[in-house]
Amino acid sequence: MHNTSGHAGIGFPRIYDALVFALTRGQETAYRRAIIDITGIGAGAHVLDIGCGTGTQAALMADRVQPGGSVTGLDVNPNMVAAARRKTCRATGSITIVQGDCTALPFADRRFDVVTVTTVLHMLPEADQPTGLTEAKRVLEPGGRLLLIDYAGDAAGRRHLSARHGRHGRFDLHRLRVSVAAMGMSGIEAGELGWLGLSYIAAHRQRD
Ligand SMILES: C[S@@+](CC[C@H](N)C(=O)[O-])C[C@H]1O[C@@H](n2cnc3c(N)ncnc32)[C@H](O)[C@@H]1O
Repeated sequence: MHNTSGHAGIGFPRIYDALVFALTRGQETAYRRAIIDITGIGAGAHVLDIGCGTGTQAALMADRVQPGGSVTGLDVNPNMVAAARRKTCRATGSITIVQGDCTALPFADRRFDVVTVTTVLHMLPEADQPTGLTEAKRVLEPGGRLLLIDYAGDAAGRRHLSARHGRHGRFDLHRLRVSVAAMGMSGIEAGELGWLGLSYIAAHRQRD
């Protein structure tokens, strides 16, 4: 199934959750916490999770931003959106799941304190990746934090099997570091996540 942008996303939420369970050996919460720790979010933060999938990370972040904060999850695939709504309907705090495309976010400028993009960029055609990044920056308030999690480095040197597989193996998050710097982000940090062979880039939107 495709939306008007041509991005279909992933349409099998149950299999996806089972896959993450298997890959993390039943430790998905610890995996998600490692990501959430890098965001630095706390009470009162307004967070957008782009390509939220089945909503696991959004639900955990919603807990972390109480009191006073909110989490919005966005995914292009209607099956993922439905699954995320089911999963998050009993989550603590304010949480909204929206269907949309990360290359044309349906949000006003400077709306969020933190934007997370976890294992989504490798799914975009290369030509759309800069647009995805520009959109993520557009909805961040000045000083806000962007966190990108994805596969990085020379594929042959990746120890985790899933980091070498298919389009994971062809993607290198480090290549986007230049684009992140060029679009007006500062304090860029990069490193290994320590889970599933994933790496991260974190940066702040420069203040005007
Ligand atoms: C590998 S999954 C990761 C899901 C979630 N972030 C996680 O960490 O479990 C990638 C997600 O990105 C979504 N996606 C792919 N292309 C997208 C796009 N253009 N806009 C929004 N979401 C997209 C897919 O539908 C899928 O749910």
